[in-house]
Amino acid sequence: SSAPVDPRPLIMVTGGAGFIGSHTLVELIQSGYDVVVVDSFVNSCMEAIRRVEKIVGRAVDFHQVDICDREALDALFQKSVSTVPAPLCRITTVIHFAALKAVGESVKQPLRYYENNISGTLALMGVMEKHGVRQVVFSSSATVYGNVNCPAFTETDSTGNVVNPYGRTKMFMEHIIRDMCVAHPGWRAILLRYFNPVGAHSSGTIGEDPLGYPNNLMPFICQVAVGKRAKVNVFGNDYPTLDGSGVRDYIHVTDLAQGHVLALESTVDDRCLVYNLGSGVGRTVVEVIECFAKVNNHAIPWVFAPRRPGDVARLVCNPAKAERELGFKTTYSLEDMCRDAWRWQSMNPNGFR
Ligand code: NAD
Ligand code: WQD
Repeated sequence: SSAPVDPRPLIMVTGGAGFIGSHTLVELIQSGYDVVVVDSFVNSCMEAIRRVEKIVGRAVDFHQVDICDREALDALFQKSVSTVPAPLCRITTVIHFAALKAVGESVKQPLRYYENNISGTLALMGVMEKHGVRQVVFSSSATVYGNVNCPAFTETDSTGNVVNPYGRTKMFMEHIIRDMCVAHPGWRAILLRYFNPVGAHSSGTIGEDPLGYPNNLMPFICQVAVGKRAKVNVFGNDYPTLDGSGVRDYIHVTDLAQGHVLALESTVDDRCLVYNLGSGVGRTVVEVIECFAKVNNHAIPWVFAPRRPGDVARLVCNPAKAERELGFKTTYSLEDMCRDAWRWQSMNPNGFR
């Protein structure tokens, strides 16, 4: 007689109600993974999870938990027990998105950022170790490359030039995870450094839903298009770029979500791996605005404004390592990103609310 078999691998997703987390849930479930999702809703809401359930046509095992709450996390791992062969935790890997992410806010509230992001990660890793769950995929950021001039960043470039508290939390979390992999032979980690994720799921039912004044370019353009803001301020007209505005590496959030599925399926046998996830192509702010206006047939008023403190002229990745080792390749164009961002915004003028 054979023991009952757990049908699908079980992945814990922290921060799963957020922008990137919700899109990753869709790709994971559609690729045959089971998920257990935690989020505190500090920057999201239950409606995002309901929308994911609609897209995939099944219920999502969701728990409103703050990852700083060790007891609550512990209870969740305790509950996720395998039916075979022994009562071991069934979770194989944690994808760790949960973090506060607003750069400007982190300058004003450093303790809150260090507390939430660092203490949350320490609690999570402690509970994982206790339950023998030793694989993590971590949301790192291009921000770890800091304020440095470089045509295209590669994974071996220094992370010692970070310029804001948010970025330092990401850099420290990378170190914490790497140190665990060095100390304990069973640990495996993949650190994914995202460049500029934009766009939304093709259904138009989930997307980026910033609370209050949008800090980031694409949500701001969308709010201008929907009539909430009069015009886009283009920060800087004198960078050494094509048209004087800043250059970034934009990546469709669905491509980024797929990158997490590829990370789970990676067979590269290294304890701690780092990958840039971006397109490798730089676009100026003005190019993005004009692309949005064109593909959506919607005029976007904009003016040049002073540079934003802390910004760099150019932040673009060399994506060769992820392509070579994970088989990662972006499939969505800037046109797709603009079209999908606008579909989400126009179908949901007030986001999830
Ligand atoms: P998001 O704010 O939409 O998602 C983060 C989620 O984590 C939110 O739902 C929030 O409620 C949750 N969360 C935060 N602290 C928590 C805690 N202590 N316990 C439980 N849940 C908590 O942001 P996002 O854009 O989806 O980003 C996801 C991850 O990717 C973050 O770690 C972010 O730093 C990183 N990242 C984002 C970008 C970007 O431009 N969006 C770029 C690079 C890296
Ligand atoms: C993009 C470009 C702005 C708004 C941020 C974080 C980074 C990472 C990704 C988390 C820049 C310009 C923007 C506006 C503008 N996040 N801009 N007018 O700054 O590249 O990266 O998100 O890890 O850490 O810093 O993204 O969307 O804010 O800006 O001209 O109203 O658009 O100057 O050149 P950024 P962004």
